[in-house]
Amino acid sequence: MADNILFQPFKFRHLTVKNRIFRSNLSGRFDNYDGSGNQARINWEVKFARGGVGAIISSFVPVQIHGRIVPNYATIDRDERIPFWRELGKRVHDEDCKFILQLSHSGRQRDIPGIEFPKGLSSTNKPEPLHGFECERMTIAQIRETVQAFASGARRAREAGLDGVELHGANGYLITQFLSSGINDRDDEYGGPLENRARFVLEIVRAIRQEVGNDFHLQMKISATEYNNAVIPWEGKGNTVEDSIKVCQWLEQAGVDAIHVSTGSSFPHPRNPAGDFPVEEAVKTYDSMISSGIHTFRNFLAFRTWPFDRAFRALWVKARGDQTEGLNLPDSRAIKSAVHVPVICTGGFQTASVIGRAISDASCDAVSIGRPLVANNDLVKLFAQGYDRPPKPCTYSNKCLVNVLENPLGCYDESRFNSREEMIQQIMSVFNPPPFP
Ligand SMILES: Cc1cc2nc3c(=O)[nH]c(=O)nc-3n(C[C@H](O)[C@H](O)[C@H](O)COP(=O)(O)O)c2cc1C
Ligand code: SF4
Repeated sequence: MADNILFQPFKFRHLTVKNRIFRSNLSGRFDNYDGSGNQARINWEVKFARGGVGAIISSFVPVQIHGRIVPNYATIDRDERIPFWRELGKRVHDEDCKFILQLSHSGRQRDIPGIEFPKGLSSTNKPEPLHGFECERMTIAQIRETVQAFASGARRAREAGLDGVELHGANGYLITQFLSSGINDRDDEYGGPLENRARFVLEIVRAIRQEVGNDFHLQMKISATEYNNAVIPWEGKGNTVEDSIKVCQWLEQAGVDAIHVSTGSSFPHPRNPAGDFPVEEAVKTYDSMISSGIHTFRNFLAFRTWPFDRAFRALWVKARGDQTEGLNLPDSRAIKSAVHVPVICTGGFQTASVIGRAISDASCDAVSIGRPLVANNDLVKLFAQGYDRPPKPCTYSNKCLVNVLENPLGCYDESRFNSREEMIQQIMSVFNPPPFP
């Protein structure tokens, strides 16, 4: 196996990972309403560490309560959170795996806002177009406070003994809302030309470096091409890969150690996670979003009603394009050839030879995997045993995605299991061991 590039260790500036496979950011609503973490999240992360990934990149971890996407995701908004993250990091380290925490802020993209802050903050005061999440345009004082919240989050991650942090600068959350030409409509120093739109994230990077020094791993996930008009054609198309290359070069100069390449200016987006849009499954959980946005009731009715349900699904699948596995590789290659820091690519990976080729042809240095690891927690071990693809691969059905709002995260594609009972057992395994055995 030593000659297999997938299993060669990778050295970042201040972090060495044992192989080239990262668990991409994902989790269910496993934690407590107030943002404190619990045993189920530890169980969740340990599953993947045991499955052999070199590093886990956490799911969305809000740096402020105002910046959460849903309640019940653990936060890093105050010092009292540090002991939980320390315990989680230790449990993952015990399995010979690294842990990188994703510092995040939702901005206006909040599926279920919770009771503390009914409206999100954003670069703009335009509601998010698909669901109609309303928001307030941030003042300069709010921008400064948020920049500092990211820096404090990084400090807490370091104090917790974690291996690094990732800025969630992708998929339509707050940093994208500043970077994107399709979203940011400000006319001050944070809006207009790309240099101004990038000011917010570059201030965050500098503030983090000031808080944690230069020797703590810091990476940024970016939507290299935004396809901002993929579902709503009258929206602006958003940033191109050329724009993102410039941003990545500035990030590198400001002290970022790696770039994680994603796509799409919203979450979800037809290209991320790329696959189906299972409308029949979505109507079972989308009801929990009805009070969140001004278009959510309309969408709920559309998802339930023929022929709008089919039309929406067809639009989604068409906007995705033909490729699923490795669909971000062209963008990743373009960015890698323009920066000196390593590049991690996400998007559909579950075939060892595809990953090996992507690394050897310099499209990326490592890959991050989400759904295929939910489907096969031991995917890396299967690769090590010589499988090119797992016997029961992820079908990209996206049933896990549409369940995550109401149900525990796991694989919901019944066709992959011998019975429904087996599927439920797999989903519920995240509660083992229980908090009070
Ligand atoms: C249920 C679910 C939750 C996700 N949560 C996050 C997240 O919190 N932060 C993030 O950057 N990406 C998130 N993603 C995107 C994944 O990390 C990954 O980049 C994307 O699904 C493409 O990779 P895949 O095809 O291997 O799943 C999520 C994806 C899914 C399916
Ligand atoms: S439900 Fe299962 S098969 Fe479908 S995308 Fe999610 S992990 Fe893959």
